[in-house]
Amino acid sequence: MQLIELTVNGLSRQVAVRPEETLVEVLRREFQAYGVRESCGVGMCGACTVLVDGQSLSSCLMLAGFADGLAVETVEGLGTIDHLSPIQQAFVDHTGFQCSYCTPGFLMATKALLANNPRPTPDEVREALAGNVCRCGSYANILEAVLDAADRLAGGVDAVEPAATPAG
Ligand code: FES
Ligand code: FES
Repeated sequence: MQLIELTVNGLSRQVAVRPEETLVEVLRREFQAYGVRESCGVGMCGACTVLVDGQSLSSCLMLAGFADGLAVETVEGLGTIDHLSPIQQAFVDHTGFQCSYCTPGFLMATKALLANNPRPTPDEVREALAGNVCRCGSYANILEAVLDAADRLAGGVDAVEPAATPAG
């Protein structure tokens, strides 16, 4: 076992991990971050997308040991049940999902996109989210939701992301 320090949604903890364990496994086991979902397990679907030091990546591809000392954001840190983040609210308002299995990954990929490009074009959204698969085919609604989220974050009463809620 290897002892690493992870900061997840603002909460720092030391956790023991096996050398072969992936970040998604440790996030779910140690931080109860069940919104981080493993589907393909090989970096092809984006269901396990998290932000590591602000960069969007597939947590099924990253060994947990390599995240030692890094800050991880998961969907649990986006908003609260009583105060969804503007991105989450846009997905709800545009029904950017059906079964919602892919949704946490899309939300985190959207957060990374809008942090780097606050006013993306539709093609830029499609390109940025190309690594996220929605098996229900909700792509048209997801595109509308992302563009609306960009509007919300650019101004208005919902422009401020709520503070992250520490997990665990
Ligand atoms: S589960 Fe990680 S990309 Fe599919
Ligand atoms: S909403 Fe079902 S996989 Fe995307």
